[in-house]
Parts: sequence; C-alpha cells; structure tokens
Amino acid sequence: MPCYDIAVLPGDGIGTEVTREAERAIIAASTQFQFNVSLEHYPIGGAALDQLDTPFPDRTRDACLAADAVFLGALGGPKWDHEIGHRRCEFALLALRKVLGGFANLRPVIVPESLIESSPLRAERVSGTDLLIVRELTGGIYFGSPRTDSDDQGINTMIYCRSEIERIARLAFSLAQKRKGKLTSVDKANVLEVSQLWRRVVTEIQRSEFPDVELEHLYVDNAAIQLILRPTQFDVILTSNLFGDILSDLAGTLPGSLGILPSATMGGKVGLFEPIHGSAPDIMGKGLANPAGALLSVVMLLDSLGETEASECIQSAIMNTLDAGIRTRDLGGTASTTEFGDTVLHHAFGMTPALV
Ligand code: NAD
Ligand code: IPM
Ligand code: MN
Repeated sequence: MPCYDIAVLPGDGIGTEVTREAERAIIAASTQFQFNVSLEHYPIGGAALDQLDTPFPDRTRDACLAADAVFLGALGGPKWDHEIGHRRCEFALLALRKVLGGFANLRPVIVPESLIESSPLRAERVSGTDLLIVRELTGGIYFGSPRTDSDDQGINTMIYCRSEIERIARLAFSLAQKRKGKLTSVDKANVLEVSQLWRRVVTEIQRSEFPDVELEHLYVDNAAIQLILRPTQFDVILTSNLFGDILSDLAGTLPGSLGILPSATMGGKVGLFEPIHGSAPDIMGKGLANPAGALLSVVMLLDSLGETEASECIQSAIMNTLDAGIRTRDLGGTASTTEFGDTVLHHAFGMTPALV
C-alpha cells in the first residue's frame, strides 16, 4: 500500500479551520481508496512567531522538503501586522514557496451551475466559466532586488529573466493544449520593460513550440475588466506573480466567494497545495469559513500523488454538496464549516460525521 507523508501547515485564523476539513477528507479517502497517509502538523506564520519567535522555523522548512506534498491553510493577521522584514508572516509563505521551488501556481476558477445565483454577476455572463490562472510564483516583484524601505523611500523591483518566463510559458501552453487550446498572457507591456520581455518570450515559445495553441496578449488593466465582463472568453491565463495574485482574488468574485478557490503549486521539489484565500480575521473562530477552497486543494493534492480515484470522488462530492444547496454564509447559506465538511464526506464516502 502506498504511504504518503503530507506536511500540514494550518497557519492562522481560518487557516486552521479549513485545514481541519481538508485533513478529514484526506483521512477518509485513505481508508476508502487504500493508501496510508501521515499528516504531521508544523507551525508557520503567526502561530510559529508566537511559539518559536520566527514565522518560518527550520523544522517546518525541513519537514516540507522531506514530504511528498505540503498542505497549507492560511497565515497572517492583524496581531502580527506590525512585524517587518523576515519576521512578517507573509515572508514565511514566500520563503516556503522559494525553498520548495514550485514556480507555477495553478488557480482554477470554475462557476458550477449551482453557484450561478451566488455570483454578483448576471447568470448569462458567468454561466460556463471554466478558466485556469497560471501565476508565476517564485519571481517578479515579490522577490526582486533591490528591495528596501526607509522613512522617505520604498523600493521593490519587478524583474524576470528569460529562463523564468520560458519555463512558466511552456508549462502554461502545455496545460492549454490539454484544455481548450487558448492562452491569454497578461502583462503591462505598454509601460513596463519587464513586461515587454515577457510578451516577446511568450510569443517566441508559442511560435516555436506550441503553434496549435491560440495566443492573445492583454494588458492587466484590461484583463481585470474582461474577467468581469466576459469570463467565459478565457481558458488559460498566464501571468506574473503580482498580477496573478490580484487577478485571482478578482476571479473569486465569479463563483460568489474567494473561499471556494483552490491552488496547486508545481514545478518544484515538492508540491504545495493551498486555498487562495487568507486567514480572514473578520470571520475567524466563528465556524463561518468556507472549506471548499481547502477541499478542492485536497483534490489537486491527491491528483498530484496519482490518487485520481480519490481525487475525483472528493471533487464530485463537493459539487454534489453545492448542488444540494449546502452553503456556508459567504455563499448565502447557513451551514457551518464543519457541516459543509460533513456533507462532503457523506456524499463521498457515505460516512456519518460521527465516524470521521
Ligand atoms: P482574506 O482572503 O483573508 O479575506 C478577504 C475576504 O474574504 C474577507 O472578507 C474574508 O472573510 C473572506 N474570505 C476569505 N476566505 C474565506 C472563506 N474560506 N470563507 C468565507 N469567507 C472568506 O484576505 P485579507 O483580509 O486581505 O487578509 C487577511 C490576512 O491573510 C492578511 O494577513 C494577509 O496577508 C493574509 N493572507 C494570507 C494568504 C495565505 O496564507 N495564502 C492569502 C491571502 C492573504
Ligand atoms: C496569496 C497571498 C500571498 C501572495 C501573500 C499572503 C504573501 O495573497 O497566496 O494569494 O501574495 O502570494
Ligand atoms: Mn492573494
């Protein structure tokens, strides 16, 4: 029987609440689909600062590097917002991503029929939305030097080298080939030199290696409005670290809540799976967090381990739960985080909550 070591980083705020549901789903899937799993918890972010005086302890880093996959809830929050530099919670997440080396953050955005009424957009606009944001994750302005902050000047640097653009473009084009065959590259080439290089390199890769994929380029400001005006025009959206961060939160409006969007980070030593939302301090500790993004991240995690049956089973259980009208408050429902998780487990494995 295969055995997977999964490093679990619940983090802060609702990160811990949605991670609990993710773990229950992984454990139930392991019983049903006959694999062993070890789920060890490691501190990161504010929880780690409080316990160990650093947001990214060495032990957490080493365990993640030794694992088969890493699951992360969310980190950060107002309690630690005064911290600066390497003591910031968000720094820990960037350091984790860098050390794992996953340069491609895949953020799928679908609007299931059952959620069309939850979308702030009109039904005819969002119906059929099924797109994939491929966000470059280990470069760009998040990591470029110089970066400094003094009393009268702050500096960050958006920098991409050719090889970084080539590798993410190749991955995104190959994903588009398996989907609807269209790739939209998003940049700010009308203003930024770094985007001009991005656009040239993406065009070269398409011409020489992926002529069968349709390529279009959009400026990021226009991409933002197109996402809202006509989200169904998109298949794969390829973009840089900062633009991908912003566009993926914007895309969270399409199904009606940020809480249902998952992500998988590929291309490095170990895959990293995390919902795209944050620690949501405004709702933490109240059982209001939507665990669907975390559960869909479990779907991507199991798929990456080759446990496709388990992954498909949980995916359809989440869709069936939404179809049955079970929703957390962000989507207009009354289910708690745990009740949503219970219903997913019930649909997937016929389990009564007491057994899990
Ligand atoms: P956020 O994503 O935490 O919350 C934005 C809004 O969406 C809030 O109104 C929140 O209640 C709602 N929301 C988010 N996830 C939800 C869910 N699962 N169910 C229901 N509602 C949900 O963004 P923020 O408030 O800008 O950031 C809070 C903290 O989280 C900050 O410290 C930020 O740096 C951090 N953050 C962490 C991650 C991560 O760990 N991956 C991602 C984004 C933000
Ligand atoms: C995300 C988050 C992170 C990011 C922060 C918390 C560092 O917003 O995963 O989308 O900007 O990448
Ligand atoms: Mn973000």
